[in-house]
Amino acid sequence: MTDAVRLDDHDYKVMQGSVGPEVIDIRKYYADSGRFTYDPGFTSTASCRSTITYIDGDEGVLLHRGYSIGELAESSSFMEVAYLLLNGELPSKEAFDTFTTTITRHTMVHEQLATFFRGFRRDAHPMAIMCGVVGALSAFYHDSTDVHDPAQRVIASHRLIAKMPTLAAMAYKYSVGQPFLYPDNSLSYTGNFLRMTFGVPAEPYEVNPIVERAMDRIFILHADHEQNASTSTVRLAGSSGANPFACIAAGIACLWGPAHGGANEAALNMLREIGTPDRIPEYIARAKDKNDPFRLMGFGHRVYKNYDPRATVMQQTVREVLGALGVTDPVFDVALQLEEIALKDDYFAEKKLFPNVDFYSGVILSAIGFPTSMFTALFALARTVGWVAQWNEMITDPDQKIGRPRQLYAGATARPYLPVGQR
Ligand code: CMC
Repeated sequence: MTDAVRLDDHDYKVMQGSVGPEVIDIRKYYADSGRFTYDPGFTSTASCRSTITYIDGDEGVLLHRGYSIGELAESSSFMEVAYLLLNGELPSKEAFDTFTTTITRHTMVHEQLATFFRGFRRDAHPMAIMCGVVGALSAFYHDSTDVHDPAQRVIASHRLIAKMPTLAAMAYKYSVGQPFLYPDNSLSYTGNFLRMTFGVPAEPYEVNPIVERAMDRIFILHADHEQNASTSTVRLAGSSGANPFACIAAGIACLWGPAHGGANEAALNMLREIGTPDRIPEYIARAKDKNDPFRLMGFGHRVYKNYDPRATVMQQTVREVLGALGVTDPVFDVALQLEEIALKDDYFAEKKLFPNVDFYSGVILSAIGFPTSMFTALFALARTVGWVAQWNEMITDPDQKIGRPRQLYAGATARPYLPVGQR
């Protein structure tokens, strides 16, 4: 391990985390040298210090507070993972009961939010609705928007985690023209969400325990993923002191993109478009063609250069859910064969492109009954836990400053303004 590196005749401290690569502290670099560093996409830049999630992309490792995602998905619950991400440790039985009761008590949303929903077109994308209504929470919950008050931060965090399922279910209900259902707090976090989504007021709804467990596991797999684009967006928005509801709305907007959370929707659409295994080679060829913008959706990752550990759990869960529901979906066979063919192809091997979490998630969500347009909203629901944990960590970080990247300016230099008649 090195203590310092010398750049432009100045020494820069080398920082070492508990695990992972060394990090050069270049905060004084511009002051010392008059130079900036250039790193579009932040491929070599650590934007913060964090103790929440660790990824080793070469080994395909994902740990939350030190616990592996495989073990959490197998043995834990989404509520327990939420507690872990927020608080750093697994809860005692008593702490867990208090936490789940608190979250449960916040599941209802202000009654006037229903009116807010009615302003959207019925065919609005659920993510468009989610950006709007989550941002609007700051207009309804003024008593938890002071970011400098620790008690308000806790309440805002609990509100966001508790209300996301209610809002996501309302977005779905609105799109199909059915009445909104109030939460039923006798159910689990995930069971409650399923009932608000698929239940109707005219009939009792019975939560299928296999679907409930699968959904809960999907939520665990999406709960956090260190400094990805939407989490960095939440941190950047929060770095100015913006209120948490506004910050999470910014995260939702970023997540929507097809290179990020929108990939689950895009991946299932792609698999359906391929339709039958005999058409796979055509799509593989397109993905490899430099002149074709097409990419295999659900493949590749900025950090994982090995199998995404979340995809392993997801593939297993698809089998369980399809088996339990007695659903046969030809798209699953297309996915399995596409994976097999791509993994044997030199192009994908050389670029280390493997299936990511989104490759199989659409198959399960569709078997459960969600329309593709809801997939990214479900990702947002689960990721809210990570966003909130990371936002809280940022607010209390003594090194935290407003995020303000610099640039390599390549535009016109100073020139005189010419009146329109002289141009
Ligand atoms: N299909 C075909 N080629 C690909 C793919 C793909 N899915 N992904 C990357 N490549 C190629 C890319 O063309 C480039 O080739 P070259 O070096 O010849 O120019 C090389 O691999 C590196 O790609 P990159 O775009 O520089 O890599 P990145 O780290 O900037 O992008 C990514 C990562 C996830 C945006 C990208 O792999 C991608 O667009 N994948 C499809 C979308 C997707 O599944 N996104 C979900 C990510 S996981 C869920 C989440 O965390 O949001």
